[in-house]
Amino acid sequence: MNDELHSDLARVLVPEETIQAHVKVLAHQISQDYADVERLYLIGVLRGAFIFLADLVRQLTIPHSVDFMSVSSYGKTAVSGEVRIVLDLREPITNQHVLIVEDIVDSGRTLSYLYKTLSGRQPASLKTCTLVQKRREQIDVPVHYLGFSIPDVWVVGYGLDYADQHRTLPYIAELKEEVYKK
Ligand code: IMP
Ligand code: MG
Repeated sequence: MNDELHSDLARVLVPEETIQAHVKVLAHQISQDYADVERLYLIGVLRGAFIFLADLVRQLTIPHSVDFMSVSSYGKTAVSGEVRIVLDLREPITNQHVLIVEDIVDSGRTLSYLYKTLSGRQPASLKTCTLVQKRREQIDVPVHYLGFSIPDVWVVGYGLDYADQHRTLPYIAELKEEVYKK
């Protein structure tokens, strides 16, 4: 498999089958946890989460709706600076059961900002789900549903990008350090 890797990529970190298995487990758990709820309101964080969200919702067995938010990030690797909403929800979430769906949690700044902002809008409940979490010490936001943890490297694929590249790979791969540190 490594023979066919793009020259930007160091190695496949999470193969397609492993991702799909995790998505299935997450969807099953979410469906169970929200079984008694009238409707679950899932919020995908653009752009990285759209592929994960698309696969996740198609495995849910409970009534749900989907909306998106987008937050600004500065620089190619998007991990510095402040967070700002550039696309907000279409409707209020008052009294709704809300689940924020992220692609990856690194410093936790993005998810923490969204969590605080949305909890101020009086949802009936608010939880978070991320496919990937980089192994980090302490983040100040709860992650209720997690696919898997990865080392502190830049990853691409399955929605994740580097400067808008490699987003549509079916697996998650580690970017070569020379690519993102140049
Ligand atoms: P935060 O540091 O947790 O706020 O992460 C900020 C955002 O940076 C995430 O939502 C991702 O969109 C992006 N990000 C962080 N690490 C990676 C990565 O390894 N690959 C691609 N995007 C990443
Ligand atoms: Mg993101």
